[in-house]
Amino acid sequence: MFIFRDKTQIIDIGGSQLTAFFESLLHQALLWTGKPYAPGGLPQRLLASAFLSDDAGLLLWSDLTRAPNYYQTEAEAELIQEKADELSSRIEDGTIIMDLGCGDIRKTIPLLQALEKQKKFVSYYAIDLSRKSLENGLRRFESDYHHIQCTGLWGTWDAGLAWSKQMLDARRSRLYLSLGSIFGNDHLEPAIARLRGWAQEALCGSTNSSMLLTMDATTDKDLLHASYNENDGLYERFIRNGFRHTNRILGRTGTRTRTGSADNPVMHRSVLRAKRRVRVHAVGLVLDEGTELDCYENFKYGPTVMHDQFAAAGLHCIEQWKAPKANICK
Ligand SMILES: C[S@@+](CC[C@H](N)C(=O)[O-])C[C@H]1O[C@@H](n2cnc3c(N)ncnc32)[C@H](O)[C@@H]1O
Repeated sequence: MFIFRDKTQIIDIGGSQLTAFFESLLHQALLWTGKPYAPGGLPQRLLASAFLSDDAGLLLWSDLTRAPNYYQTEAEAELIQEKADELSSRIEDGTIIMDLGCGDIRKTIPLLQALEKQKKFVSYYAIDLSRKSLENGLRRFESDYHHIQCTGLWGTWDAGLAWSKQMLDARRSRLYLSLGSIFGNDHLEPAIARLRGWAQEALCGSTNSSMLLTMDATTDKDLLHASYNENDGLYERFIRNGFRHTNRILGRTGTRTRTGSADNPVMHRSVLRAKRRVRVHAVGLVLDEGTELDCYENFKYGPTVMHDQFAAAGLHCIEQWKAPKANICK
C-alpha cells in the first residue's frame, strides 16, 4: 500500500531544453532537410502540432475548447465523467497513471476524483511540453487528495516514458492516458508506428499495463467546420501562434491561412500558404509563392479503423465506449 501526502511538484525531464526537439521536428517535417516528408504517401510540408503548444498556444487552446461550437472537449469530458467510477474500479492500488500531453487536465479530474473516492492509492504523472500549463493544471490538486500523488513531468512524452523506466518501480501497473485525439490521430502508417512503439516500450512489459485512448470520430463536415472555425477567430490565432513559434527559430515569413476538410479518410486541417517567395535563411531554403504548409491535421477515424490500428500495433482492445452525446469512441 502506498500513502502519499506530498505537495505536487514539477520535474524538469528536458522541458527547459526543448530547442533541439523542435529543431528536429522542423527539419524533418517542414524544411525537409533530409528527404521530403511524406507520411501519407504524398510529400507535405507539415507544421508539427507540438509547435502549437507553447504557453501562449495552450492558453488559446484552453479558450478554444470552451467555445460553444467546439464539441470535442465537452463530449469527451462527459464520457470520462460518466465512466469514471467504472474506470476507477478497474485500476488497482499502486498504479502509475501517465497523462501523455495532459493539457489543462480538465478531463482527467473526474477519474482522479473517482479514484480518491474509492480510496485507490495511485501516482498520477501529468506530462506536457508547457510548464505553465502543468502549473495551472496541477494547481487543482493542491487541495485534498489523500490517496493520489500528483507530479508534473515537464518535457516530451518520450522523455516521460524514459524517465519513468529509470525512476519508477517496474512492477507497478501502468495506465497511459492519451486524451484529446493524440495517439492514433495521424496518417495510418505513422499512427500505427507510434502505437506500436508504445506497445513495445510501454505496454508489453511484465506489469499490467493499458492505455485509455480517446478519439473524435465525427464525420459531419458542417459540425467539424463550425467546431474549428466559428469561434471568433480563436482557432486561426491558435494556428498562427504555432507558426510564430517556428519563426522564433527561423525568421519571419508572410502567409495566408485557410482551413478545410478532406475525405477518405475524413480529416480537418489548416493550411498556411506563402503570399510571396520566402527565403528561410537559416537553412538556405526558398519556398515559392503559393507553397503550402499543412498544420494541425485531425483525422476522424471511427472504431473500425482504430481497431485495425490497434491490431497492427500489436494491441488488444479491452473495451470501447461512445460519448453520450457526440460521435466519440474510446
Ligand atoms: C490536443 S491537446 C490535448 C490535451 C489534453 N490531453 C486534453 O485532452 O484536453 C495536446 C497536448 O499534448 C501536448 N503535447 C504535444 N506534443 C507533445 C509531446 N511530444 N510531448 C508531451 N506533450 C505533448 C501539448 O502541449 C498539449 O497540451
